[in-house]
Amino acid sequence: MILVTGGAGFIGANFVLDWLRTSDEPVVNLDALTYAGNLENLASLKGDSRHVFVQGDICDRKLVDRLFAEHLPRAIVHFAAESHVDRSIHGPGDFVRTNVNGTFTLLEAARGHWMTLEGEAKAGFRFHHVSTDEVYGSLGPNDPAFTETKTYEPNSPYSASKAASDHLVRAWHHTYGLPVTTSNCSNNYGPYHFPEKLIPLMIANALAGKPLPVYGDGMQIRDWLFVTDHCSAIRAILAQGTPGEVYNVGGWNEKPNIEIVNTLCALLDELKPDPAGSYRRLITYVTDRPGHDRRYAIDARKIERELGWRPAETFDTGIRKTVEWYLANQDWVAHVQSGAYRDWVETNYAAR
Ligand code: NAD
Ligand code: TYD
Repeated sequence: MILVTGGAGFIGANFVLDWLRTSDEPVVNLDALTYAGNLENLASLKGDSRHVFVQGDICDRKLVDRLFAEHLPRAIVHFAAESHVDRSIHGPGDFVRTNVNGTFTLLEAARGHWMTLEGEAKAGFRFHHVSTDEVYGSLGPNDPAFTETKTYEPNSPYSASKAASDHLVRAWHHTYGLPVTTSNCSNNYGPYHFPEKLIPLMIANALAGKPLPVYGDGMQIRDWLFVTDHCSAIRAILAQGTPGEVYNVGGWNEKPNIEIVNTLCALLDELKPDPAGSYRRLITYVTDRPGHDRRYAIDARKIERELGWRPAETFDTGIRKTVEWYLANQDWVAHVQSGAYRDWVETNYAAR
């Protein structure tokens, strides 16, 4: 079986669902169920004995050791993290704790387990670390896209904590020989995306008739990847990736934020027209994010060349599926918009 951390969050849950759709290999899913973790994402696995959910903290060494000893996973796929840049600006401490100390704890527990293995089990063991393109810093308009050898220049507490975790993973391979792989992926979107991030926040606000808050001039550029394509990239790396290697994963979809918001408005105008007029009327420019990175872009040629992976979705197909999913799952959105979510909206947007 495999051990997944953070499998109740956005990408982790999509990964677990996809994994069990495409294989019968069981998953132990360790997740602390922070504000971002949601067992409703995994509701379709209720009663499925291939999925073992454990609520717990990746910083809890005893618990992680116990999971390795009890389940003898052949691989760990590490998603668990604090993942939202704006939250990292308001409260960086949790980011250092989970992203840095948590990754350290997992590496040490994995190393302890791996050292007890022999032969094929030892050679085949994998620690896959899920990271982000944000560790590479911000690009100018004409700079080449990030390759795997780009210098690390993290600018936010979030990206700095992920960069630190990437360095630990690299060192555990270099020093101890732990068979690690790392993927640095661009912005994901799709089902189960928590509505604090750009795309689900804009859909939820539009449907509620609330302002669509565009930071600064809205011309910041991100590369967007449909979440199931990220899942298939990780599966490819687990199956055929080389220990010690880093793979950049992206969708070849660089877009300015304002274009994303306009596209969402156009799709909603088509699929759920508002008698009050186009959703575009709700677009509101607000104070920019401090230290806002201007542009990220991923050069995903290495993973294509070496592992034969390319995204299956175009931005047009992926964004349509996403809007359709949110329209069909408005209960899910309503449930996550709990008291804690409302506090966050107040903290981040009230003074902008
Ligand atoms: P998310 O915030 O939606 O989910 C994170 C999950 O981790 C939640 O289920 C949460 O409960 C869990 N978690 C947090 N702290 C924990 C702890 N101490 N112990 C155990 N579980 C804990 O995040 P996501 O968007 O699904 O991102 C998953 C991973 O992918 C992260 O490592 C992130 O850095 C990386 N990533 C995300 C994106 C993106 O666009 N969302 C892009 C590239 C890389
Ligand atoms: P986000 O989804 O938070 O991802 P990240 O910061 O990790 O790229 O934000 C994506 C882009 O959208 C980023 O440039 C910030 C911008 N943004 C807004 O303009 N308004 C918002 O309300 C949010 C949440 C993000």
